[in-house]
Amino acid sequence: MKNREHWGSRLGFILAASGSAVGLGNIWKYPHMAGENGGAAFTVIYLICILLVGLPIVIAEFVIGRKTQLSPVGAFKTLAPNTNWKYVGVLGVCAAFVILSFYGVVGGWTLRYALLSLVGGFTKISGNPELAGEQFSLFISNPINPVFWQIVFMALTIFVIVRGVKGGIEKWAKIMMPAILLILVILMIRGLTLPNGLKALEFLFQPKFSDLNASSVVLALGHAFFTLSLGMGTMITYGSYLKSDQNLLSSALWIILLDTIIAIMAGIAIFATVFALGANPDSGPGLIFVALPTMFPQIAGGTLWGSLFFFLLFMAALTSAISILEVITAFFIDELNWSREKATVVFGSIVTIVGIFCSMSMGGFDDFNTLFNISFFDFLDYLSSKYMLPIGGMLTALFVLLKWGVGDFVQELKIGMEDKRIDPLWFKVLFIISALVVGFIITNEIIEIITGSSIIG
Ligand code: PHE
Repeated sequence: MKNREHWGSRLGFILAASGSAVGLGNIWKYPHMAGENGGAAFTVIYLICILLVGLPIVIAEFVIGRKTQLSPVGAFKTLAPNTNWKYVGVLGVCAAFVILSFYGVVGGWTLRYALLSLVGGFTKISGNPELAGEQFSLFISNPINPVFWQIVFMALTIFVIVRGVKGGIEKWAKIMMPAILLILVILMIRGLTLPNGLKALEFLFQPKFSDLNASSVVLALGHAFFTLSLGMGTMITYGSYLKSDQNLLSSALWIILLDTIIAIMAGIAIFATVFALGANPDSGPGLIFVALPTMFPQIAGGTLWGSLFFFLLFMAALTSAISILEVITAFFIDELNWSREKATVVFGSIVTIVGIFCSMSMGGFDDFNTLFNISFFDFLDYLSSKYMLPIGGMLTALFVLLKWGVGDFVQELKIGMEDKRIDPLWFKVLFIISALVVGFIITNEIIEIITGSSIIG
């Protein structure tokens, strides 16, 4: 067997894994989801999902990866030889393809918006959401412009991964994660000191449960998987580059804490600006690419704040895209003995090509839209966040419960921990809750698709 690469330090691992978790999910998706689903009430449900379902599955993925020192397919094959469990890993590799194809497109948009703001491109749309909306639609439906930025974004992703675990992924996470945190703190303070900015805190932290409905709960759960990069073996892959001296429980807690704090800080920075300018918090997915760019030129130093914001979004997207491509690369290295360079370049390019179709689905190329009544882009997002990740996460929980055994799992988890008092019963209960909750939600979705009405939501 080849020598496996390992992380250079504990901090490096925590930053790389939280780099995977912190991404478009935190800064683009969470604020607009909270904005549309009652603010604080959504945040409370989201936090419960993260702790009850997210935490145990993050730990499970890390433990499986570290124990087997292999990426998902090989990991399941090692722990359950000659069974179908390896298909959980295969599902993960497929999910990575699906997610990265549209993630790369949005990643490209972030880069273009950062530069656009820098050259004063937001001035024209200042205070004019209609015009901003028009310009955004024109941009994303253009057959060339967004594709160019997507290719640049994907090339950067490939560039980092080719350099390996320590020299590529870890090195760049150590640079980009502190930068993300710093920029976010600055933007948050900037937002809160604007007149009316403090209203953002009320909006995000004072729950009005009357605003909440069952479908927001479904949304919060799906998002918990997406934001923590769970259910497709990202954390198994990152865990497989660990030596056995790490306390996985505390590492997992750090990652969840960073991911959650960053989502909430992004929410504060964004809503403070929204309230300061008297705009509507529930403008949906266009909140970031349409509403915000009209606001930046209205505050002092707006060009700078706008570029910083989109540059932050770009870095967050990049560290996540890296982790998604690494799942595919690691599969071809571990299972088919490919070299890192070949696996990354070949599959990075294939994903980019699928992504080009995805980008084109926003405009001229809409056979898919007419055929299935949904754009290829939305279809990929929907397929992955609503089905592939939650199903992958549920199967991982079931794997530990039914195949590997919670006892053996806890035994492995204890390696590297000083305080070894962990009762397997806690994990058993948590895994049962995770599997049941996700199982129920997925059944509900499927019933809704087949019959048109659901049990809840
Ligand atoms: N967690 C990332 C985000 O919040 C997305 C992601 C999903 C990354 C799945 C890896 C795997 O944007």
